[in-house]
Amino acid sequence: MSRKKVLAANWKMYKTPDQARHFFHDFLTLVHGHDRDEIVVCPNYLALDVSIPAAKGSNVAIGAQNVHWEKEGAFTGEISTSMLLAIGVTHVIIGHSERRQYFGETDDTVNLKLKAALEAGLIPIVCVGEVLEEREAGLTDDVLRRQSLRAFHKVSAKKAASLIVAYEPVWAIGTGKTATPQMAADAHAIIRGQAAESFGQEFADQLRILYGGSVKPENAHTLMSEKEIDGALVGGASLDPKSFAAIVKY
Ligand code: 13P
Repeated sequence: MSRKKVLAANWKMYKTPDQARHFFHDFLTLVHGHDRDEIVVCPNYLALDVSIPAAKGSNVAIGAQNVHWEKEGAFTGEISTSMLLAIGVTHVIIGHSERRQYFGETDDTVNLKLKAALEAGLIPIVCVGEVLEEREAGLTDDVLRRQSLRAFHKVSAKKAASLIVAYEPVWAIGTGKTATPQMAADAHAIIRGQAAESFGQEFADQLRILYGGSVKPENAHTLMSEKEIDGALVGGASLDPKSFAAIVKY
C-alpha cells in the first residue's frame, strides 16, 4: 500500500505577513516542481491572507492552525470553517498538543472540530500524542487509542476520507528529542489500529499518519524511510525556507 507523503509546516505563533511573504518568495523556488509529496504550510491566521495568493498555482497548499466548530456566532476571538474556505484555506490542524495544554482543547472539542472541518470540506490534520509522564508510565498505547477513538466518534468513513492524523509525542516537540523511527512506527500502528476499528481496515490502510516532534533536515530522511511514517508535521525547522525545503526533499 503506497501512501503519498505529506510534509506540513506548523508555523505556530511566528511570522508577520511580511515575513510570510518573504518565506514563500524563497521557498517556492526551492521546491518548484516537487510533486513526489504533498506540501502544506500552516501560517497563523493573520499571515493566511498573504500566504494564499503567494502560494496560488504552486505545489504548496495552505492550512490554518485551528478552527471553531460552530458556523458563526458570539464566540469572541474564534474563526469558522466558512471564513477559512472563503480566503482559500484547504487544510486545518486540529487538536495540537499546545492547544490541548494551554487553551483547554479536549478530546470532545477535537471531535467537534473534526466533524465541522469534514462537513465544510476542509482537510483536517488531527494531532494526537502522549506526554512524557504517560510514556514513562507505559500509558502511550492507552492515550493514543483514547485520543483517536474520541476524535473519530460518530464520524463516518465516507465523511472522513480526507483525514490526516499527526502523531506528535509531546516530549519531542521543540525539545530536540526525536522519537526513533521504531517508536514512531509503533505509535502509528496503534493509531492505525484504532482507525481500522472506527472506519474499517481499508480506510486504515490508506490513512496518512504524519510524525511531528523535532523533525529537522538531519533526521528527516531516516524518519521518512520508515514505512509507517507518511510524512511530517514540522514546527521550528519549517520557519526557514531552506530548512523546510531540505525536509521536503529529505
Ligand atoms: P517542532 O518541530 O518545533 O518540535 O514542533 C513540532 C510541532 O509541534 C509541529 O506541530
